[in-house]
Amino acid sequence: MPTQQTVLLVGGTGRPGGRVLQQLLDRGVGVRAIARARARLPAGSAGHPGLTVIEASLLSLAEEALRRQLSGCDAVVSCLGHTLSLPGVFGPPRDLVTGATRRLCRAVEALRPPRPVKLVLMSSVSVNRPGGLDSRRGALERAFLWMLRGVLPPARDNQRAADLLLEEIGPDNAFLEWVAVRPDSLLEGEASAYRAHEGLVDSLFSPGRTNMANVAHFMCELVTNSEAWAAWRGKQPVLVNASTKAA
Ligand SMILES: NC(=O)c1ccc[n+]([C@@H]2O[C@H](COP(=O)([O-])OP(=O)(O)OC[C@H]3O[C@@H](n4cnc5c(N)ncnc54)[C@H](OP(=O)(O)O)[C@@H]3O)[C@@H](O)[C@H]2O)c1
Repeated sequence: MPTQQTVLLVGGTGRPGGRVLQQLLDRGVGVRAIARARARLPAGSAGHPGLTVIEASLLSLAEEALRRQLSGCDAVVSCLGHTLSLPGVFGPPRDLVTGATRRLCRAVEALRPPRPVKLVLMSSVSVNRPGGLDSRRGALERAFLWMLRGVLPPARDNQRAADLLLEEIGPDNAFLEWVAVRPDSLLEGEASAYRAHEGLVDSLFSPGRTNMANVAHFMCELVTNSEAWAAWRGKQPVLVNASTKAA
C-alpha cells in the first residue's frame, strides 16, 4: 500500500488556498495547515481526519516549531498573498511572500530531508523570469511593471519571492525543489480545461483568465503526480484557462 503524502499548507484561508486545501483532502493527502485563524479555513474542512491545523502566523512561528511541522512533509504549498485592503497592500509585512518563502526554505534545508521536499509557490503573471521566456513582454509593459513594483509592495514582494527561488535556492538544491505557479487574473468558477505555459501568453493590458479552481488543480497535480513535477520542477509556469478571453 502506498504511504500517504503529507503537505504543509500556508494561505489555506485564502481564496486559492482554500481550494487547494479542499482538493488535497479530496485526493487523500494529509494536510498540515498553518493559519492565523482556523475559523477562516473552508467550512467543509473542519474536523476532516486528514487535516491538522496549527493556529499561528507563519512569520512569527518559532523556528523549532516550524521545523517540527515540516518534519516528514513531502511538499509545501504557499498560497499567501497580501490582503486586498489599504493596510494589507501598504502596511507591514511588506515582504510577506518573500519572508514566508525564505523561512520555509531555510527550515526545510535545516531538516536535511533524505529526499528533496517539493515547494509550490503561488506567484503571478506580473512576475518576470529571466532567460528570454517572457520576451513577449514589450518595453511599455516592462516599464509599467517597474513602476508598479516601485509603488505597490505586493508586486515587488511577488517578484522577490520568485527571484529567491531562482537565485538563492536554484535548480539543484539537495533538499528542496520548487515550482512558482503564475496565474493570470484570478476568477471564481468551476474547474475547467486549462493550460500551463513556459512563458507569458497574454499581456497585463489584455489579461488572460485563470479560474482559482484550476490553479488549485494544477498545484495539487504538482504535489501528487510525479510526471507533472518532473515537467515543471524549477520553472515558473503561466497558468491560464484554455478559453481565456472574454467572448
Ligand atoms: N488576485 C489576482 O487576480 C491574482 C492573480 C495572480 C496572482 N495572484 C497572487 O495570488 C496570491 C494570493 O492572492 P489572493 O488575493 O487570492 O489571496 P487571498 O484570498 O487574499 O488569501 C491571502 C492568504 O494570505 C494570508 N495572509 C495575508 N496576510 C498575512 C499575514 N500578514 N500573515 C500571514 N498570513 C497572511 C491570508 O490569511 P488570513 O486569512 O489570516 O488573512 C490568506 O490565507 C497573491 O500572492 C497574489 O499576488 C493574484
